[in-house]
Amino acid sequence: MKSFPLCVLSLSLLLLQISAQQISDVWLITWDRKSLFTSIGTGKFPVNFTDPGSAGDADIVADDGTVYQSILGFGRSLTDSSAITLSNLQSANSDRYWTLLKTLFDTTDGANAAGLDDTPGDTSFNRFSVDRTPSQVPAVLKDILSINPQIKIHILPWSPPAWMKDSVTMDGGSLEANLTTAYSAYLLNAVKSYFKEGFTVYAVSIQNEPENNDKTYPSATMTAVVQARIGKSLRTLLDQNNFNNVKIIGNEHNWSDAAGFPISLIQSAPDAFDGVAFHCYQGAVADQDEFSSKFPSKEIYMTECSGTIGSDWWGDIKWYMDNLWIGALEHGAMAALMWNLALDDKGQPMLPESDSCDGGCRGIVTVSGGDYTLDQEFYSMAQASKAILPVNAGGPFGRRIDVAVKGASNSALRVGAYATGGVKGTDRTRYALVVMNWNDNSSQGSFNPTPVKATIEFRGKQAKYTFPVGVTTLWWFAPSN
Ligand SMILES: *[C@@H]1O[C@H](CO)[C@@H](O)[C@H](O)[C@H]1NC(C)=O
Ligand SMILES: *[C@@H]1O[C@H](CO)[C@@H](O)[C@H](O)[C@H]1NC(C)=O
Ligand SMILES: *[C@@H]1O[C@H](CO)[C@@H](O)[C@H](O)[C@H]1NC(C)=O
Ligand SMILES: *[C@@H]1O[C@H](CO)[C@@H](O)[C@H](O)[C@H]1NC(C)=O
Repeated sequence: MKSFPLCVLSLSLLLLQISAQQISDVWLITWDRKSLFTSIGTGKFPVNFTDPGSAGDADIVADDGTVYQSILGFGRSLTDSSAITLSNLQSANSDRYWTLLKTLFDTTDGANAAGLDDTPGDTSFNRFSVDRTPSQVPAVLKDILSINPQIKIHILPWSPPAWMKDSVTMDGGSLEANLTTAYSAYLLNAVKSYFKEGFTVYAVSIQNEPENNDKTYPSATMTAVVQARIGKSLRTLLDQNNFNNVKIIGNEHNWSDAAGFPISLIQSAPDAFDGVAFHCYQGAVADQDEFSSKFPSKEIYMTECSGTIGSDWWGDIKWYMDNLWIGALEHGAMAALMWNLALDDKGQPMLPESDSCDGGCRGIVTVSGGDYTLDQEFYSMAQASKAILPVNAGGPFGRRIDVAVKGASNSALRVGAYATGGVKGTDRTRYALVVMNWNDNSSQGSFNPTPVKATIEFRGKQAKYTFPVGVTTLWWFAPSN
């Protein structure tokens, strides 16, 4: 007879555990910058999941029964320009330099992402060696790794060396047809040199923007067939040199050609490439589906998009959330990056003759004198990053789960949902939502930011939350599914 109440007790404990699901961590940026990636929490009054009542004006339904890709993180490019800018900050004000690196890369106290970092070189990789890379690049990269050893390094050349091209210049032209094998060896050397300097290369790409022939900065055109040939011989070389784990990524160009170049590339070299990368400058993020529908097992990376000096802060945040930090992931990307990590307030330094960055490019941070400003690129990325960072040291990054927004005001919210497990499979999982409320009536021409009263549905329970116009990241813990 004794076992009966005991059984009831454990059952009610279990129920208690489930009903005690509550939201207590909330991070926010608002359209008016009154809240700038601030932890507002919910203090002593967590938002509880309870038995469902009536749905809010927008009803967010998170479904951890459908789990999609793992997210590697968010990042930016440590271009030569960024490395020089950061190094200048270090000379002018070393404290601010280290504070900035911690803000960008520390996953515990700091805001942000262990993400992909790629290290292209405007003039780097010459003469089968990375010695020509500005010395600031490895120096800054070492400092970043000292803060976050988990970052992933993705290297990407903008051009083969001038002597290997029909144009005999880095600026425009194409690789000589008889040098594809030599170019594979050249890329192997780049990978080897990085490892020799203590940098674990996560991935290497063959050529930045292979359909872009610009005579004012390093660029080279390359057909999918040629890129496929290089990819195949590079895969063989990497494997022979024990770099089996180094991924090869192809394409690295606009969304608009998703049905063209990347598909021909993988058709020609299905085993050489782990996946393809996209840039945001033409086409739409949904174009990524053209590729993934053909090759669902290949990886997708969103690797370049740049802010422009003088553009609207909140307008930019809306676009970035919609297309990059929520959108690119929704369309299959494992990581999303923007371009320069740091530039000065004029978008410098740039190669003097370059016609890129019309109006001036803006980095994730703007460095001016001995100080820096975190830009909208940073704040929007940080909100997304918070949702997928490991729960504890050594734990996995988050995976995207299914989410839908219902209700009369469903179009007022743009939402991504992520589940991040603990170190051990038995640890509780963190369920995070990145919610943009863009209900500001700006498309109707009269700006009127209006909060949205929403409900969140999860495993048959419901929580209520009112989202201000801005981006909110919030999470709760629940037993692993
Ligand atoms: C949620 O539940 C906690 C107890 O776990 C309680 O203290 C808190 O007041 C509740 N929050 C709301 C908004 O009712
Ligand atoms: C490659 O072809 C170019 C002409 O297109 C020629 O000048 C060059 O010598 C050739 N290089 C090798 C290594 O065969
Ligand atoms: C792709 O983007 C670049 C900018 O990097 C632009 O100059 C080019 O015209 C675009 N090309 C195509 C084919 O869409
Ligand atoms: C949105 O803008 C339109 C056009 O200016 C206006 O008629 C409408 O009342 C606005 N709606 C809200 C909710 O502010």
